[in-house]
Amino acid sequence: MPAARRVRRISFTRNSATVLLPLPGPPFTRVGPDASTAHMTRLLTERYPEFRSIDLDVRDADGVDSLWGRHAREIELVVHAAAQPSHDWAAREPQTDFAVNANGTLNLLEANRRHAPGASFVFISTNKVYGDTPNRLPLEELDTRLELPEGHRYHGGIDTSMSIDASMHSLFGASKAAADLLVQEYGRYFGMPTVCLRGGCLTGPNHAGTMLHGFLSYLMRCTVAGESYRVFGYGGKQVRDNIHSADMVEACIAFHRSPRAAAVYNIGGGRESNCSMLEAIEICQRIAGAELSWELDDAPRRGDHRWWISDLDEFRADYPEWRIRYGVEQILREIYEFNAERWAAPVS
Ligand SMILES: NC(=O)c1ccc[n+]([C@@H]2O[C@H](COP(=O)([O-])OP(=O)(O)OC[C@H]3O[C@@H](n4cnc5c(N)ncnc54)[C@H](O)[C@@H]3O)[C@@H](O)[C@H]2O)c1
Repeated sequence: MPAARRVRRISFTRNSATVLLPLPGPPFTRVGPDASTAHMTRLLTERYPEFRSIDLDVRDADGVDSLWGRHAREIELVVHAAAQPSHDWAAREPQTDFAVNANGTLNLLEANRRHAPGASFVFISTNKVYGDTPNRLPLEELDTRLELPEGHRYHGGIDTSMSIDASMHSLFGASKAAADLLVQEYGRYFGMPTVCLRGGCLTGPNHAGTMLHGFLSYLMRCTVAGESYRVFGYGGKQVRDNIHSADMVEACIAFHRSPRAAAVYNIGGGRESNCSMLEAIEICQRIAGAELSWELDDAPRRGDHRWWISDLDEFRADYPEWRIRYGVEQILREIYEFNAERWAAPVS
């Protein structure tokens, strides 16, 4: 593969297509209007003349095929980030969830195979493909977080050797796991340059967080706006690693510069960027200079991880130039600086 390729990103969402990130509008905002990415479509359209947004549903196989057919020779990199992204919502409409996450991914892969098989195909997968297996780790309870003992093989982070079998995934985890396997298969069977980036928490100042989705963004919003926040289970000591969208984009670009077939990596903030819920609340309060009103619901969400930190060494071994540039504190500071004024304003 050439060492440096011109980078062009294409990702698919209902309202978007050629070029850059996921977007969309109300019908596809399954976790509520606050999580809509439509404002980002508008912003990108206004700011970047080369950005084009196309209204397309990934379930529309003919539409996807025809779009790929029209742009076949231009397509170099596909970043597939379109999804029904909520665990909790998936159980309400399993068929819709599977049609979007699994069949939608198949439609993109097949169009890519037919029209642009040499294009790098990056699938934004999830650590939920491991189901609740991480919950069997022998965690110790510390003052502010659950933690793995230092000598444990996954202390530095969980790698892709963890089994995805024999665990409870949630219907969302199952549809994403189906998509993840398809992406690997198109790499292995057809020799296409595909990668599954199994994300921990993906976030950043533009994240449209809402209850049960996008926790750092929603937590900061509640702190600034004076809304109350509900923590589900584990005494607030559950741990997540958090990756800034800019570091995630760099990972996609690193893969595209040197693609390989059927690659799979866990990706998140790793040891460099992780926090428990209690620790995140403390940082939010300090940055916002305000107290968050929050309550603990003893019942955890079904299948929710008690502890997740991604092992980043597998990705770094193949892409040594890539690194985490943002820690949790910096991510929360950006979320605050970009949004505080808007969130603090009284609703008219
Ligand atoms: N946010 C996280 O912490 C996280 C963690 C791991 C993986 N991921 C993955 O990252 C990707 C982006 O998720 P997000 O958290 O930014 O959520 P998001 O809701 O902001 O993005 C999902 C996008 O997919 C679009 N979409 C939904 N149904 C569609 C359809 N039928 N056709 C076309 N587009 C459709 C939505 O409109 C939205 O723009 C998803 O694949 C998700 O599974 C996210």
